Amino acid sequence: MTGVGRFITFEGGEGAGKSTNVRMLCKAIKALGYSVVTTREPGGSPGAEEIRRLLVEGATDRWDPVSEALLHFAARRDHVEQVIRPALQRGDWVISDRFTDSTMAYQGYGHGMARESIEALQSVTIGSLKPDLTLILDLPVELGLKRAGGRDNQETRYERMADGFHQRLRDGFLDIAAREPDRCVVIDAKRALSAVKSAIRKTVAQRLSVPLT
Ligand code: TMP
Repeated sequence: MTGVGRFITFEGGEGAGKSTNVRMLCKAIKALGYSVVTTREPGGSPGAEEIRRLLVEGATDRWDPVSEALLHFAARRDHVEQVIRPALQRGDWVISDRFTDSTMAYQGYGHGMARESIEALQSVTIGSLKPDLTLILDLPVELGLKRAGGRDNQETRYERMADGFHQRLRDGFLDIAAREPDRCVVIDAKRALSAVKSAIRKTVAQRLSVPLT
């Protein structure tokens, strides 16, 4: 089916279950007959995936907050130009595991970079592009880090940052949601996966007027 592409993003701290839920939602939207592109940040295009390695591996203090934000936006610009805009122009749905709210939460609320600076970089790199719907998967920091720690991978640079950092970014995501209630919905992700999945389907059905049950 072709139509007006919709842009959905998943956000949240470490171990919130975003990737599992991106897969679930992709399947559900495809079953309605839409073309769906799933993607992630940092990454999502060949160039951005190369930048990803610089961000998710290595010493926690290898970048200062501004350099780090610039790398995230360099990756995002490439991802948007190469993947997201073309998909939306074709009328596909795009579901991204993280997008600009992660920069505001992690580099802004977490590392203390000013909101206005992040908004300025956002405007230069991606203009007015915004998701139609952002699902913020929220759970206590301790639980998220425990879940993330059980995964077997090298990409632990952010997980290794201090607990206070993770608490600030959790609070940051909740503040972002409170500022933009028309775009953002907070999903309680500490529940069993089946309950989280069902809350996501209901939210997408209501907000984007599609018959998901
Ligand atoms: P992931 O573990 O969800 O794949 O994301 C990689 C890490 O990158 C995650 O710890 C959050 C972090 N991140 C930022 O700090 N700023 C950003 O703008 C993005 C997209 C991710």
